[in-house]
Amino acid sequence: MQNALSPIVIRSTGYFLPERVLTNDDLSKIVETSDEWIAERTGIRERRICADDETTSDMAYGAALDALKNANLKPEDIDLLIVATITPDFKTPSVACILQERLGLRNVPAFDISAACSGFVYCLEICGQLMRGGVYRNALIIGAEKLTSVTDWTDRTTCVLFGDAAGACVLSKTDTPGVGLIGNILGSDGSHPDILNIPGGGSRLPLTKENIDDKTQYIKMNGREVFKLAVRVMEDVARKLLERHGLTTQDINLVIPHQANTRIIEALTKRLEIPNERVMLNIEKLGNNSSASIPVALAQANEQGRLKKGDYLLLLAFGAGLTWGASLIKWN
Ligand code: UT7
Repeated sequence: MQNALSPIVIRSTGYFLPERVLTNDDLSKIVETSDEWIAERTGIRERRICADDETTSDMAYGAALDALKNANLKPEDIDLLIVATITPDFKTPSVACILQERLGLRNVPAFDISAACSGFVYCLEICGQLMRGGVYRNALIIGAEKLTSVTDWTDRTTCVLFGDAAGACVLSKTDTPGVGLIGNILGSDGSHPDILNIPGGGSRLPLTKENIDDKTQYIKMNGREVFKLAVRVMEDVARKLLERHGLTTQDINLVIPHQANTRIIEALTKRLEIPNERVMLNIEKLGNNSSASIPVALAQANEQGRLKKGDYLLLLAFGAGLTWGASLIKWN
């Protein structure tokens, strides 16, 4: 089953990583942990972290410039801008509006969406549908996160997991049928708010000196619960999406999963019977970058020449909310 409306393709990819590297050995000097524990339980060896004055919009800007360069487009060619992030520079204005000004885009709709680690897959669906509606020709979508700004550096169960990054894609309309964004399935379940959240800093619990001392502004997670749900839900959504389009996992040339934990990815791809050589991994060097993980992995796969015309790509995401999503793409 193909989408009969105007096909939308990923015209280019781009990414930006902060320069500073934080290794597992560096972390073992801050909390009681070890390179061995982190590598064995998560697959992570190092992650990038922003400089103190480097922001989510700075990384998003870097990724946007890279994607525009790779698309041979100028900022004025872009007529829609969407950013997925849970770590915006400000509560308002949005990162997208900051970028609109920095890129010099003229009169384009620009907005952020919040779907945590599933943010980029949500962006693909939202942007694809807006473009199919007819008005927009070229869109810029970005996943960007400064997760270290919401990391509790005294909590060894979370601080070893996260890193900062941004990834971007230019989406364009095309006349070629049957390529590009073939289909998506998105989902959510708000009945588990406490297993992965940032309790403080919103309207429910505005920050006060007292609750800052209680560290409510940082990510809290029940890792074991999230782990189990992530494997089960991503397997389910992958199977449903492939079945909807008359494909099997044998047809997939590359899976680009959210990079939360190598063991999650291994359990998932084993259940789906997808061999390791058809799975994109960058977690060892980057950790978990929430909404930036998938677009950075996609851009790196592209840079490494792993995406061939006609290949089927399967993007799989799971994160806070809870939210999840799968995207099927035929590379062009
Ligand atoms: O991106 C959004 C979604 N997020 C995820 O998908 C993350 C999902 N969860 C995970 O990836 C894993 O659950 C973690 C990596 C977070 C934890 O791995 P785990 O194998 O589930 O470990 P655990 O929480 O069951 O903890 C095992 C032990 C505990 O000690 P005891 O109680 O057995 O004595 C922890 O205190 O490991 C201890 N531990 C650590 N030890 C050394 C927890 N964190 C660390 C650490 N270093 N950093």
